[in-house]
Amino acid sequence: MRMRAAVLEQFGQPLVVQELDLAEPRADEVLVRVAACGVCHTDLYTASGVDPSGYAPAVLGHEGAGVVEAIGEGVSSLAVGDHVVTLFSPQCRECVHCLSPKTNICLAIRDQQGKGFLPDGTTRLSRDGEPIRHFMGTSTFAEYTVMPEIALAKVSPDAPFDRACLFACGLSTGLGAAMFSAKVEAGSTCVVFGAGMVGLGAVAGCRLQGAERIVCVDLSGERLELAKGQGATELMLAGSDTVEAILDSTGGFGADYTFEATGIVSVMRQAVESARMGWGLATMCGVAGKGETLDIIPRYLITGRRVCGSSFGGVKGRDQVPQLVQRYLDGDIDVDAFLSHRISLDEVNKGIELMEAQDGIRSVIDFGG
Ligand SMILES: NC(=O)c1ccc[n+]([C@@H]2O[C@H](COP(=O)([O-])OP(=O)(O)OC[C@H]3O[C@@H](n4cnc5c(N)ncnc54)[C@H](O)[C@@H]3O)[C@@H](O)[C@H]2O)c1
Ligand SMILES: [Zn+2]
Ligand SMILES: [Zn+2]
Repeated sequence: MRMRAAVLEQFGQPLVVQELDLAEPRADEVLVRVAACGVCHTDLYTASGVDPSGYAPAVLGHEGAGVVEAIGEGVSSLAVGDHVVTLFSPQCRECVHCLSPKTNICLAIRDQQGKGFLPDGTTRLSRDGEPIRHFMGTSTFAEYTVMPEIALAKVSPDAPFDRACLFACGLSTGLGAAMFSAKVEAGSTCVVFGAGMVGLGAVAGCRLQGAERIVCVDLSGERLELAKGQGATELMLAGSDTVEAILDSTGGFGADYTFEATGIVSVMRQAVESARMGWGLATMCGVAGKGETLDIIPRYLITGRRVCGSSFGGVKGRDQVPQLVQRYLDGDIDVDAFLSHRISLDEVNKGIELMEAQDGIRSVIDFGG
């Protein structure tokens, strides 16, 4: 079939919206009509050329939601008409990681996905016979996409697509960091560094876990106001004395749980140093630049602080994204507050510019219908 998509032709250049060919889904693959897609930092990071593992030409986009249009041979968990959220972090339910409750990092298709191919090592996207690669296994800056069955979460049809798509990346990453990676305990004191999509999601996740104090730290007063809406009990403008301020407000001990959601290694260090002596857990969500390192004074660890990382919030996508979407439908999560701009596919570069300017939390491409 022919369809329109935003193609990364050259790093550092605007995406080019154009018609492409999309082949039918093969075995264990699904054709999805994309209804909405958020514009995320990872798209920008890859488009800019800074990401050393990036490739072009490719169709970017990974925060998608849509409807199953056709299924390939052997697909049993999805049917035509199902509403789905795309998963850059799949869940095969069979590999040693999927079988363990300790991680959500599925091993099934990592190698090919990382190179921009579907699991059989080929692409369904092409232009006059020239293969075009699939970004993050999702390529949702497009009217249609073909994806592995294991990378689609079936969600309630009651969730509007422009809200559901936010669960494909940033929101689930933040919520999950608190709920599944750190497993925040009720009554805890939490500190979240960064009030973008991920940090705000972490604030909401801490609230859902029953945290007593949730301190949100950001450079922007406007973003901190949004954190209040997600359940932050205290707001703190970021500065060089942030760690001191947190220690002061916790009797000198630090917080039970800290979350870093900025991608800045110096902030990661602050998250470690403001975690409580004895048992404080610092969870890193941000993606740092290639080659950057996180400095930790070993004494902080000897005295009981722990550090962990969180990819996609530790969320096992096919099992838990539908549950998170249901919590939104139940009124537990205010998703509307994250949707700042609604744009068309043709305006995708505007979405990237808005993100670079930190204008709003998320721009969502609305494909109409
Ligand atoms: N782990 C994952 O699976 C995953 C998934 C999605 C995004 N991410 C990463 O998470 C990070 C956050 O993503 P986002 O979409 O929320 O980004 P964002 O840019 O919207 O938000 C980052 C926030 O950090 C704030 N900030 C900057 N410097 C600060 C400082 N010194 N102290 C406190 N706050 C500061 C900014 O003002 C901004 O509000 C990025 O690094 C992104 O790549 C990770
Ligand atoms: Zn993302
Ligand atoms: Zn797996």
